[in-house]
Amino acid sequence: MQWHELSDDSKQLLEQLKMQQLAKLTFDGKVICVTKLEDGLFGIHNTCPHAGAQFHHGHCNKKGIVGCPLHGYKFDIKTGRSADGNNYKIAHYHFKIEDDKLYIGFK
Ligand code: FES
Repeated sequence: MQWHELSDDSKQLLEQLKMQQLAKLTFDGKVICVTKLEDGLFGIHNTCPHAGAQFHHGHCNKKGIVGCPLHGYKFDIKTGRSADGNNYKIAHYHFKIEDDKLYIGFK
């Protein structure tokens, strides 16, 4: 896992997120759909692999299952894997706080 410090603007955006609220974050050319769950912050690539909808316009439940706003396909924001039986797998991102700085991690 490679960790990268996020900007103060991104840190502020994530700190203001409500539980299960979805938001769009851009980092290093990647557009990421992020949310806050009881066990932390999580993110997935923001573009749905089915037909290109933007996940941050969808919804997220307490378990971190994100529903695509266009056709309703479901993805686990913690793993990037399909949560409804299709074979899609998308990039996913982790976050951590150290020394009051927020980092994004991905492989
Ligand atoms: S575009 Fe996401 S399910 Fe179709």
